[in-house]
Amino acid sequence: MSQEFKNLDMTMMFTIHDALRRELERIARITARVDEDPRHVLSTAVGWEMFKKNLTIHHTSEDLTLWPVMQQALAGRPDDLALLDAMEAEHAVIDPLLADIDAALADRDSGLERLTGLTDALYTKLRHHLAHEESEALNLMDSTLTKEQWGAFGKEQSGRHVDDTSTYLPWLLDDMPAAKLAAFIGNMPEPLRSAYENEWRAAYEALDIWGAKTNTATH
Ligand SMILES: [Fe+2]
Repeated sequence: MSQEFKNLDMTMMFTIHDALRRELERIARITARVDEDPRHVLSTAVGWEMFKKNLTIHHTSEDLTLWPVMQQALAGRPDDLALLDAMEAEHAVIDPLLADIDAALADRDSGLERLTGLTDALYTKLRHHLAHEESEALNLMDSTLTKEQWGAFGKEQSGRHVDDTSTYLPWLLDDMPAAKLAAFIGNMPEPLRSAYENEWRAAYEALDIWGAKTNTATH
């Protein structure tokens, strides 16, 4: 990603988006499996619970602290307001898919067919939304929000992760390319960095969030 932002540090936004895309690929591989019922794999995987929670927190934090603040600041600018409406509308289509997928996971009869359609929709719509946000909405955030307003979004989001920072952080950094990871870790406050390096990363890896490393490995 080679976008330039003049005002705000977008590192965390891209890191979360990349983690969500990584998990979408893993979910797609699971639902394409023929050796085991994907309903069983998904419904028992910690990875599915984490994906739902982390996506929901990300979208909720944006819905609460970004779009309304930007709507106020951009009053009278119809094109910009339309982009914000599109962001909200995309969230409103994606978020209910999580519950729909859970319903399909619980349905022994017709669940498998439904599951494939729903996970395909999640893959396509979330990838499209993240790309749309990155290509248009991040620039608008950069030119509209103050650093304080941007900080409020970060606070809202991290505040919703206070109970699971020890798994959320290694989940974010899972499979990150080495140079990027080194830079990210280098910017972390010391207590967090040592907790991640000495404890949290190994505990997260031991969780094996999709239950079968060989089937979800990306290398
Ligand atoms: Fe986002």
